[in-house]
Amino acid sequence: MGVTKVTTKILIMGYSIAIDGPAGAGKSTIAKEVAKKLGFIYVDTGAMYRAMALFFLRRGISPEDTKRIEEECEQVNISIQYQQGVQVVLLNGENVNHLIRTEEVGKMASATSTNGQVRRKLVALQQELAQSCCVVMDGRDIGTCVLPSADVKVYLTADSKVRAKRRYLELKEKGEVCDLNTIEEDIKARDLQDMNRKISPLRQAQDAVLIDSSQLSPQEVMEKIYLLVQETGYRENKE
Ligand code: DC
Repeated sequence: MGVTKVTTKILIMGYSIAIDGPAGAGKSTIAKEVAKKLGFIYVDTGAMYRAMALFFLRRGISPEDTKRIEEECEQVNISIQYQQGVQVVLLNGENVNHLIRTEEVGKMASATSTNGQVRRKLVALQQELAQSCCVVMDGRDIGTCVLPSADVKVYLTADSKVRAKRRYLELKEKGEVCDLNTIEEDIKARDLQDMNRKISPLRQAQDAVLIDSSQLSPQEVMEKIYLLVQETGYRENKE
C-alpha cells in the first residue's frame, strides 16, 4: 500500500507583517527573527531614513534647511539589496550599512524624516518592495501609511527605562562609553519628535495589536506574533 503524503502549502504572494513602535522597542530583533522563521524578506525602513540622513550630513545640510533637503533629496538614489539574507542599503550605489548606526545619524534621520518629500520617496520604495514579495517591515508608519492593508499589524513598545537599559547594554557590549540617563533622555526626545511630526507621526494603527515587551523576552514576543499570523489562516510549508 502506498503512503500518500499530504502537505499543506499555502503560498500567499504579498503577505505582509507591519511592526511599528518607538526607538529601542526591539522591533528589528523581532522582525528579523520572524522573517527568518517564515522565509519572508525583512525590510528595515529606518535604515533607509538613516541612509538619506547620512547623505544630508555629508553635504553639510542642516535639518532646518527644508528647501535644500527637498532639492537634494531628488538627487539621491537609495536602494536595497539582500546579500546572504541581510539587507544592504545602498546610497548612490555605496553600501552604507556600517555607517548608519551612530546616534548622530539616528538623530538626523528623526529630524529629516519629518519632510514630506523625503517620506514620499522612501514610502514608494517600501511599497514597491512589499508588492514583489512577502515581507516583515518595521518602522514608524508601516501599519498606518506604508501598508495600510498589511495582514498582521503590531505596535511594539516598552517602557522608556527598559528601552534605554537595552540600548545601554548593547552599546556597552560593543565597547562604547555611554551613560544610561543620557540614553533615556535621547530616546524620549526621539519619541517626542517621531510622535508629534505633522506627516505620518508614529502611532498605533486602529487595527494593530499592541505588544508591550517591557516584561517579555524576545521569544515571548515572537510567539505572540506567530499566533497572530496563524490566526489569519497563514500556514507555513511543513514538507
Ligand atoms: O528605526 P530607526 O531608529 O532606525 O529610525 C531612525 C529614524 O527614522 C526614526 O527616528 C524616525 C525615522 N523613521 C520614520 O520616520 N519612519 C519609518 N518608517 C522608519 C524610521
